[in-house]
Amino acid sequence: MKKLISIAAVLILILSLTSCYYDEVPEEPIRPPNLDVSFANNIQPIFNTHCISCHNGTLNPDLREGNSYNFLTITDPDSVVPNDADGSELYQRLIGVGNIMPPSGALSNNDVSLVRDWINQGALNN
Ligand code: HEC
Repeated sequence: MKKLISIAAVLILILSLTSCYYDEVPEEPIRPPNLDVSFANNIQPIFNTHCISCHNGTLNPDLREGNSYNFLTITDPDSVVPNDADGSELYQRLIGVGNIMPPSGALSNNDVSLVRDWINQGALNN
């Protein structure tokens, strides 16, 4: 009988350990995609607030309103590859591949996900 109880105890221990393992919550839940992101209404305002103090035409990429879209998609097409945020330098810099941008520290998760979703929705000039 004692032996049975200890086998049961070991089984319960194993089960509880493995269930803990599978219940583990990922540290940063992946944000659901933002729908219909607009370059003019959602993306350029991020550049205006966080980027153009430096990227004002003297430093690439030029992120000033009126210049940014053409710069990112035509002048330096590696910056934004439509439908491929992970392959776009703009997005990579926001998540810290290379020097993080802005240099003072990452944007909010919300802003980063807006840029990601804008690129993955085709990087439209919308
Ligand atoms: C305090 C000044 C400063 C701010 C603010 C800043 N950057 Fe930069 N950024 C730089 C400097 C300096 C470089 C060049 C050195 C390097 O590549 O890290 C650079 C490089 C980059 C590059 C790579 C350019 C290339 O051709 O290699 C990208 C993309 C970029 N920044 C995007 C951004 C974005 C987007 C923001 C706003 C979210 C931003 N930066 C805010 C200073 C800044």
